[in-house]
Formats: sequence, structure tokens, C-alpha cells
Amino acid sequence: MKNISVIGAGTMGNGIAHVFAMHGFQVTLIDVSEAALEKAIGMINGNLDRMVKKESISEAQKAETLTNLKTSNSMATGVASADLVVEAATENVQLKLQIFADLDATTPERCILATNTSSISITKIAAATKRPDKVIGMHFMNPVPVMKLVEVIRGYATSDATTAAVMNLSRVLNKVPVEVNDYPGFVANRILMPMINEAVYTLYEGVGGVMEIDTVMKLGMAHPMGPLQLADFIGLDVCLSIMRVLHDGFGNPKYAPCPLLVNMVAAGKLGVKSGEGFYQYSAGSKELVVAPTFGK
Ligand SMILES: NC(=O)c1ccc[n+]([C@@H]2O[C@H](COP(=O)([O-])OP(=O)(O)OC[C@H]3O[C@@H](n4cnc5c(N)ncnc54)[C@H](O)[C@@H]3O)[C@@H](O)[C@H]2O)c1
Repeated sequence: MKNISVIGAGTMGNGIAHVFAMHGFQVTLIDVSEAALEKAIGMINGNLDRMVKKESISEAQKAETLTNLKTSNSMATGVASADLVVEAATENVQLKLQIFADLDATTPERCILATNTSSISITKIAAATKRPDKVIGMHFMNPVPVMKLVEVIRGYATSDATTAAVMNLSRVLNKVPVEVNDYPGFVANRILMPMINEAVYTLYEGVGGVMEIDTVMKLGMAHPMGPLQLADFIGLDVCLSIMRVLHDGFGNPKYAPCPLLVNMVAAGKLGVKSGEGFYQYSAGSKELVVAPTFGK
């Protein structure tokens, strides 16, 4: 595999493009929004600078990574010679079904179609194509350049060859792939999201404030970050849509999203990406600027 197309240049897409380009692949990063593409290139530049400063890569490696990377706002041209597409567009079922139907029509027959979805059924996405054997979940973790895990999800029809290719490719990226099956939330979000949702319920019911809840989980459970801060990093809209997938997929009320989470998303408080969630952030940065607005 040589040519990789990444669809969606948001939080995850820019990290995925960064990692592939840094490992010598020719990457086309595609987004419908020019602003998202510009922001992504800025993020990748900044992250590469940080790596140079830490001496984990050289200036020459940074330059080579940037040479391996191009952007496009046209999906059809951006995927025409792809060996692998990693789709990292907004977490929305209808959108992903449309993207995969379009990819099936515009990519070479050999091309593997991977999705970075956090929770949507790989089998359902695969059914929008005529090559379900070549459709697979390639679930990177945030921030992609730092996190080691790739959760590799086999849909109902994903072939052994496709799975082996994606497991191997993940290793080439210096990641650790773990193969799992296709049920709502897979493994990572089946466990993580109900924990985050429960933290939001704990806040909603006034059991503790934002700082109290996050401090209990950081110091008591040795988590590097509290669940509410983690939710801000992931994006509250992403958390809500994953809870909805778990709720719909299992039909079990224990997965009902907390009304506070629903309200915050409706109010546009999406976490780091909107500048405010459970905490407030300076524009375009993960730095907290003020203490949380909720709490005792
Ligand atoms: N945020 C996380 O921590 C995280 C972690 C793992 C997986 N994911 C998954 O990764 C995917 C992307 O999430 P994100 O947080 O990067 O979202 P995001 O909102 O930051 O970015 C999504 C990008 O997709 C673009 N987009 C929308 N429709 C498009 C289309 N038709 N063609 C091309 N681009 C399009 C948007 O313009 C936007 O730039 C989702 O499926 C999400 O569930 C997210």
C-alpha cells in the first residue's frame, strides 16, 4: 500500500493523515470544508514542530512528512488512486452510508475502505458498498500521533485478507492493533462511553462538581484525565452520538444519554472544539482558561 486517502480533516482526520505521512505514505487529506483543511495543516505543522523540539523526529523528517501530504476538497479526485481510504468524517450514519456508496463508485477495485467510526456498525456501512469483504473498522485513538492503540473491527463480511492487511499496516505505523468484532461501541466505547455518561449523570444529580468528579477518577483510579475533561477532548457531540448508537443498538435503557449531555450539545457546548464544554478553553487550544462553570 502506498496511496492513502483520509476523508475528514477534523480532530481525528488530521492526526491520521499526520501518522501515515510520517511513515512514508502518500496521503491525500479530503474535507468538504476548506477551513477544516487549512486548520488541519496548521495542526499537523504545530504537532510536527513539537516532535522536532522533543527530538523525536528531525527537521528533515518533518519536511518529508509535509511533502508526503496533500489536501483536496473533492472526494472523487482525492480517492482516484487510493490503495486504502480511512474515513474520519462526522459521526453520522446517513453521512457515512453516502460516503461509502460514493467511495465504492470512485476508488479502484483493490482499495480497502476503512472507517474510523467510534461506534457505527461496520456491517451496516459495508452494506452500502459492493465490496463488503474490503470494508473494515480502523479505529484510531485521540490524539492519533500519541496513542498506540488501533481497534481493528471486523464487519460480518470482512475478509481475512482485509483484516490481515489492516493489522499489518497498523504495525507499520508503529501502533498496536487489536482485533474485535462488530457490535455497538465495539470494545473501547462500549466501556468508555457509559463511564463518561455516568460521570455526566453524577454532575447532573449534584453528587459532585466537575472538579470533584474528575479529581476522584484521576487520583482514585489513576486515570490520566478525568472523564468530564476527556469528554471535552473527544467532543460532547461525538459522545452523545455514541451513546445513541449504544442505546439504539442494544435497546437497553442503561445506555440512555444523560439529559445534561443532550442539552449541552443542543447549546453548542461541544468541548475543546467549540471552546467550552465542562471546562472552558482558549480558542483552538486544549489549554484550560478558567475553572469549570458547573459545580459546588
Ligand atoms: N474525537 C475523537 O476523540 C474520536 C476518537 C476516535 C474516533 N472518532 C471518530 O472519528 C470520526 C471523526 O471524528 P472527529 O472527532 O474528527 O470529528 P470532527 O467533527 O472534528 O471532524 C469531522 C470532519 O469531517 C468533515 N466532513 C463532514 N462531511 C464530510 C464529507 N462528506 N466529506 C469530507 N469531509 C466531511 C467535516 O467538515 C469535519 O472537518 C467520527 O466517526 C468519530 O466517531 C473520534
